[in-house]
Amino acid sequence: MDMPIGRVRPSIQGLAAYRPGKGAAQAEREHGITNAIKLASNENPYAPLPAVTAAIQAAANGVNRYGDHRASALRAALAERVGVDVEQVAVGCGSVGLLQQLCLTYVDGGDEVVFPWPSFEAYPICTEMMGGVPVRPPLVDHAFDMAAIADAVTERTKLVLLATPNNPTGTAITTKDIANLLTSIPNNIVVLIDEAYREFADPSLGDPVTDLLPEHRNLVITRTFSKAYGLAGLRVGYAISDAEIVRELDKILIPFAVNSLGQAGALAALDAFDEIKPKLDGIIGERDRMVAALTDDGWKLPPAEANFVYIPTGERTDDLYLDLERAGVVTRPFSGDGIRVTVGSEEENDRFLKSFLAPPLNET
Ligand SMILES: Cc1ncc(COP(=O)(O)O)c(C=O)c1O
Repeated sequence: MDMPIGRVRPSIQGLAAYRPGKGAAQAEREHGITNAIKLASNENPYAPLPAVTAAIQAAANGVNRYGDHRASALRAALAERVGVDVEQVAVGCGSVGLLQQLCLTYVDGGDEVVFPWPSFEAYPICTEMMGGVPVRPPLVDHAFDMAAIADAVTERTKLVLLATPNNPTGTAITTKDIANLLTSIPNNIVVLIDEAYREFADPSLGDPVTDLLPEHRNLVITRTFSKAYGLAGLRVGYAISDAEIVRELDKILIPFAVNSLGQAGALAALDAFDEIKPKLDGIIGERDRMVAALTDDGWKLPPAEANFVYIPTGERTDDLYLDLERAGVVTRPFSGDGIRVTVGSEEENDRFLKSFLAPPLNET
């Protein structure tokens, strides 16, 4: 028998690779169509503002040098914006990079990581990468079952991962819900509040940085420039937490993971938030328009608090997804459960609605 090439760790051998949303070009090739649109990865439909592009272009002249490993200027700007000490801010290669740093820092083989399910697909990957054991209290009516989450936490738990708004369902929890949960979680368990979609959510849900962090040193709140700020390709995320946790996370930040273009773009985007805000409001308005049209059509949707809409298509998911894709609208299917569609531009959303709400060919 041939000798295996290297000896892969068993936890990696059994892992399925992260699956990104399908691109428009791939759908065009697969179905022999043109003009496909991608509403599959919860991206922002708008190109960066000219000021942001200019900052990135200016930084491009310096890419013969490494950037600032710690992204000090960006950390300082974020600390000021959020209202915490700079020692409480970590940066990472997207917020998913910080999730990986968290798992590397806290999860050993056999340790349990609790996260409601379905949720962000990187959670089981990062857990299992470490040989950790995912514990997945199921959602009820597409929303978190807070009592089930509390029950799932035991002395074997190292991390609790809560995406709010949740991907793929778009449902969110309040800081009051989180505060109740935290009463039964000791400080030696770290709780991640993953707010990748925070800026699209109802502000009355609360802000964990101000509502919870002062009382709960075991909280890590991650946010990102990928969604509301429209810089997904630059890979810049950040975490707000206790300085002690930030120090641990920083030990395993891949050198220069937040590259110089990312730092420049993120700083410029932070500066330009007043200009970005109306676009954000436009996306929220479009989301609400999509929800209204789908609801009028008879769909019962979970509350949509992010930049996507989750349609509980149940057993029809695969067929409806394929119909959409053949019509050039690429969404994200969750087989047997639902379709997640990202809010795009007005024109893209019209196209989605027209394709989705049209009666299937075999019923006309
Ligand atoms: C819930 C959630 N968290 C984190 C991320 C990762 O975002 P990024 O690594 O681009 O910051 C995503 C991306 O889709 C997400 O859905």
